[in-house]
Amino acid sequence: MKPSLFVLFGATGDLAKVKLFPALYRTTTRDDAPETATVLGVGRSDWDDGRLQDAAVDAITEGGVDESDARAWAEKTLRFARVEGYDQLDPVFEAARTLEDERGLDGDRVYYLALPPDAFPDTITALGEHEAERGTVGEHLDDDAPWVRLVIEKPFGTDLASAEALNAVVHEHFTEGQVYRIDHFLGKGTVQNLLVVRFANTLFESVWNRDHVERVEILVAETNDAEGRAGYFDEAGTVRDMIQNHLMQIFAFTAMEPPARLDAEGLRAERVKVLRSTRQAEPDDAALGQYGAGDGKEAYRDHEGVAEGSTTDTFAAVRLHVDNWRWKGVPFVLRTGKRMPEKLTEVAVVFRQPPVALFQPTDAAPVRNVLRIRLQPHEAFQITFDVKTPGEGFGVATQALTFNYEEAFGDFPEAYDTLLRDIAEGDPSLFVEAEEAEEAWRIVAPLLDHGDVPVYASGTWGPEAADRFVQATPPAEEAV
Ligand code: BG6
Repeated sequence: MKPSLFVLFGATGDLAKVKLFPALYRTTTRDDAPETATVLGVGRSDWDDGRLQDAAVDAITEGGVDESDARAWAEKTLRFARVEGYDQLDPVFEAARTLEDERGLDGDRVYYLALPPDAFPDTITALGEHEAERGTVGEHLDDDAPWVRLVIEKPFGTDLASAEALNAVVHEHFTEGQVYRIDHFLGKGTVQNLLVVRFANTLFESVWNRDHVERVEILVAETNDAEGRAGYFDEAGTVRDMIQNHLMQIFAFTAMEPPARLDAEGLRAERVKVLRSTRQAEPDDAALGQYGAGDGKEAYRDHEGVAEGSTTDTFAAVRLHVDNWRWKGVPFVLRTGKRMPEKLTEVAVVFRQPPVALFQPTDAAPVRNVLRIRLQPHEAFQITFDVKTPGEGFGVATQALTFNYEEAFGDFPEAYDTLLRDIAEGDPSLFVEAEEAEEAWRIVAPLLDHGDVPVYASGTWGPEAADRFVQATPPAEEAV
């Protein structure tokens, strides 16, 4: 791989600190990484190279890296360019040219936009105009032209209209092949593993349809809250922050048809197709909520920066219906919330009961198989089935077969490591395509504007109104 220049917009922000610097460090110090990594951080704050390097060193050492290693890397790799506004990027382009000359880079660039959504259009326009001058954009590039890749962090728009407008700005300047829209759940090995479980195992895929599946429940429970990020979250809410992107991607991987090929085109085509077949969510088919006080913590409305009387959702459960041959009539319940009792992401596939109930289960639960795929933490699969209890007659008890991924293989790499590598290698398979983002907004559109929502106590599984959506998922202690 040739070395390129990585231009990080939003280098002074939280995402850079929490995820990007550690991931950049790990990916650029791997044995197979190009020798010279060069990252140009961009921000509006009054920072300089030293300040950026300090911030990065703090972030990287927090993950257990030796301070001298982190410092040596930061000094060699990181430079800073300050801008007054995102429509005035001359200081960035000047710094980029200087770095490319100094380091003998031949002009290949990644522009990584970890910015507030309202800064995207100006930034993309300014980058597009600059790249047009450099001759790196347009349909007919000569093979020797340097490449440019535009990476856009979530949120990609705040509703369908804004996502369409943003796509229009993007496409005015860049071709879709140059664009990498990030949804970091796609970088999680456990999410990709859904494809392997489904398409490498006849056992599962042959029953993965309306004839055998009664419903599917996707749960992303989080213990974290919105404290400290109310500025963003109070405008967004959980449907925008989690359902439209992360849960929708897990849903797409669970429900999509097998791709013709395992490449970007094949994967994206099937994800888009299943979203297109999915009906718009009905408000009656959803339950939203907001956390109140509990577990010794203050309520959402009491956080600094949250508007008085805010009706922002911190919990959402929504039942989706897929109008295609495979899934017609099978509900998919997507459920996520903040301040829940534990962090747990899982997909539960609930199979239909046998047509005739020959046996009476000894516990209250009806006889049925559930395949539980736990994505995080501690990836595992569990399939429940019924067996005869010892003794006379046909007593039935539910048992489980469990496979623990971590015990067998250890951890998956961090999502951002995978995604940064894919960007460097030019593989967009695990990035969201333009229409995919728009379809996801179309599906959740009716849930975006709403009045007051019920309050649930912090540390519980959400408002009571949501209970009617879930039957399969047992209390978390019983999960894998
Ligand atoms: C982010 C959301 O995109 O994903 C956060 O903005 C959420 O609200 C986070 O907590 C969850 O990511 P992960 O990787 O910690 O599961």
